[in-house]
Amino acid sequence: MENELKSHRISASDDVEVSTYLEIAKELRGEQAVIEPKLLPPGERETIVVIDFGSQYSLLIARRIRDCHVYCELVSYDAPWEKIASLNPKGFVLSGGPASVYKPGAPLAPTYIYESHLPVMGICYGMQVIAYQLGGQVSSGEKHEYGHAVLHISAEDCPLFAGLPASLPVWMSHGDRVMEMPPGFKALAYTENSPVAVIGNDDGIFGLQFHPEVAHTPQGKQIFENFLYQVCGCQGNWTPTRFIAESIDKIKQQVGKGKVICALSGGVDSAVAATLVHRAIGDNLTCFFINNGLLRREEPERVLNTFQRNLKMNIVYVDASERFLGRLRGVTDPEKKRRLIGKEFIKVFEEAAAKLGKVDFLAQGTLYPDVIESSSAAETKASAKIKSHHNVGGLPTKMKFSLIEPLRYLFKDEVREVGLALELPEDMVWRQPFPGPGLSIRIIGDVNKERLEILRAADWIVMNEIKKAKLYRQLWQSFAVLTDVRSVGVMGDYRTYGYLIAVRAINSNDAMTADWARLPYELLDRISDRIVNEVPNVNRVVYDITSKPPATIEWE
Ligand code: XMP
Repeated sequence: MENELKSHRISASDDVEVSTYLEIAKELRGEQAVIEPKLLPPGERETIVVIDFGSQYSLLIARRIRDCHVYCELVSYDAPWEKIASLNPKGFVLSGGPASVYKPGAPLAPTYIYESHLPVMGICYGMQVIAYQLGGQVSSGEKHEYGHAVLHISAEDCPLFAGLPASLPVWMSHGDRVMEMPPGFKALAYTENSPVAVIGNDDGIFGLQFHPEVAHTPQGKQIFENFLYQVCGCQGNWTPTRFIAESIDKIKQQVGKGKVICALSGGVDSAVAATLVHRAIGDNLTCFFINNGLLRREEPERVLNTFQRNLKMNIVYVDASERFLGRLRGVTDPEKKRRLIGKEFIKVFEEAAAKLGKVDFLAQGTLYPDVIESSSAAETKASAKIKSHHNVGGLPTKMKFSLIEPLRYLFKDEVREVGLALELPEDMVWRQPFPGPGLSIRIIGDVNKERLEILRAADWIVMNEIKKAKLYRQLWQSFAVLTDVRSVGVMGDYRTYGYLIAVRAINSNDAMTADWARLPYELLDRISDRIVNEVPNVNRVVYDITSKPPATIEWE
């Protein structure tokens, strides 16, 4: 420990000024010129920069801040100052992370954070980084503290705790802990196992040992609000209306008189992206809606109705059902289905777009979690391929257009809010996710017209009953699957030999994990009853009670 300490930190007496520690930190990081602490002139938008040290909760921190109507971006701990300055930050949040500050190569905060004189809130590892870099002592704790704890506030006048009771439940998950505070810092709260659970100084730099961003800290939102409004002085002006106005301006500037195309899937992301572009450039946008023959009942009509008739957009409708079904004939392997559909989609889209002449831009409904996922070292993450997702939004890069991604910095729930503010129909805004390969991956085995019609009829009933039970928005997804099992039944006096339909309904936050929904028996009963009575050739219904993992959400 002594050696480790020496190799990563130049020892200095404890009462030395913070600035000395900053100099030392800079030297260790190889930073040279003192960075101009002067910020850009305050712009319209207030941004909180979340410095990512690799915590599994980093994205959650960003969501919590956005929930408080403050714009934020997640940036890597090694981002250059120029990038940060261009965001015009009002404050910083340092995320947690798996490292230990004393370990070789442990990520540390860039010193411009402290030099900016902006407020900082470090969470867990973020707190240890603050303590370590500004001259405190962090123990590489052998004892891990994980789970619920009660936080006792000792500095009641601290703005971070405004409106909170003297004690509150919090969630802990850490190994290391702050043993000695940096100069100028005070301990502001404690728990039974952490005598220093919150630290802070007069410059608005705070460290929290617990995680305010997780649901297990029920008053976490208040802590974020306090930091954002009371400490950073944010106004909370990040609203859908503001986002819409900003996006429209930006798209106008980016596109000028250029021509834009966009592929609509029927889902909320491409719908919102297209609507924003349409508001900005009107008829210079052409949308394509490709019917792959694998859509649900009445879906093509609904999409066309919304965009063509109500929103008056230029829509090219391509009914390529026969082409897709022809390709899928005899194909039963799930991955082969997915690949075929993805490839065919691109061909159809390219052919249709080519007829339009010169096109400059492609608009896509890429969301923030996709951006983060692909910009962080995605390849180094657990990468066993489970399914090759085909997404209408994910068109090939070989297409020679510049990209417009107006939703690039939004979370799904924000996209829905924007959709509502744009007055898109509620059923489009709240549509549950539907996979790019459509019903083909909900039909086990051969995909043909007869089997598609069976599934459409069953799916219609599931949807209908779930909506009637007012559970549609609450569930992440709910749908029917046509299995390749046939079983014996009896109807009236006759033997039947019919298909087996599986019903799947799940709760999830992000589709990465999911829990099967405990639907009321009465609802399941109605769904089953209606399916066997109303859908020809089906005589049995089962309910899928598997969560993800180990199952995936879709059956194929
Ligand atoms: P799985 O089945 O992998 O699905 O648990 C996770 C989420 O992704 C959706 N999904 C897809 N979405 N193209 C898409 O656009 C695809 O190929 C695809 N496959 C699955 C699925 O519905 C769930 O929401």
